Amino acid sequence: MADSPHILVTEPIPQKVISFLENFGTLTVAQKGTYDTEEALIKDIPDYDALLCMLSTPVSKKVLEAGKKLKIVANFAVGYDNIDVEAAHQLGIKVANTPDVLTDACGDYAMALLLALSRKFKEADEYLRNGNFTGWEPLGFLGMELRGRTLGIIGMGRIGQAFAQRAQAFGMKIIYHNRSRVEQAIEKNLNATFIPEVRELVEQCDVLSLNCPLTDQTHHLIDENMLELLPEHALLINISRGAVIDEAALANALHSQKIAGAALDVFENEPEVHPKLLTAPNTLLLPHIASATHKTREAIGMLAAKAIAGVLEGKPDSEIPNLISP
Ligand code: DGY
Repeated sequence: MADSPHILVTEPIPQKVISFLENFGTLTVAQKGTYDTEEALIKDIPDYDALLCMLSTPVSKKVLEAGKKLKIVANFAVGYDNIDVEAAHQLGIKVANTPDVLTDACGDYAMALLLALSRKFKEADEYLRNGNFTGWEPLGFLGMELRGRTLGIIGMGRIGQAFAQRAQAFGMKIIYHNRSRVEQAIEKNLNATFIPEVRELVEQCDVLSLNCPLTDQTHHLIDENMLELLPEHALLINISRGAVIDEAALANALHSQKIAGAALDVFENEPEVHPKLLTAPNTLLLPHIASATHKTREAIGMLAAKAIAGVLEGKPDSEIPNLISP
């Protein structure tokens, strides 16, 4: 009898997903951090037929080449910039991600960041905890009201649209930039205006939100020059990938109050955070938790697990959820 397939899960994930995957092979669930380096993966990956990995797992060409038995890499995330997809496809290894199931969680979260930032929750909470609240003040913690303000979204995919939908309900005007213009029906529904030039969009924003994937084109897209174009009262929200922003330039812009604040869920070298961001005024720093709800994390896991199950069962690609096409 053939050996049952070996499946590596690089971090503890919801129990429902583990129980499901156990039906398809012998499972190893590693402790957090075990496979955050290429070296650790290269050493162990030859034993595995399938990999369920995190966005922090560096699935490089070298790792994939070492995976002599590897048939599929399923990312526990919608973004997959941690995986060398081209190398995987050249080696005949399938790659899957988890779109759709986290759209609402991320849309809610972007709205929560905007509300918390525009109304200075962090500063106000610290002020109170530090014993400075001596009574109601007419001029204390004045923030930005959202109705009538312009939200510029870079990356109008599912998550960008989910944020736009929520912001629209708060009376915001939506402008967006995307690789290609979205369908007219979507634009109409969101009352969103396409701006072909990123620079033009940035100049018009009261709030700039990054919802695009990290690619060669979007790496450090928001640099010193772009930050200069934002109005001084502007707020910046990033729930995409840290490297879309030049963090040193952003830290300088925040410290010199060239922009009014930022809410960052993602960082270029996670878990490290640029030291100047740690002390920047009106800046929320969150540990990459946009999709962190019980429902969504279970759904993400099940989607990734179903892709692995499909491949291990030998199903045709058309029946396997969310395979990234070559
Ligand atoms: C993802 O899944 O790529 C996101 O970063 C979740 O927050």
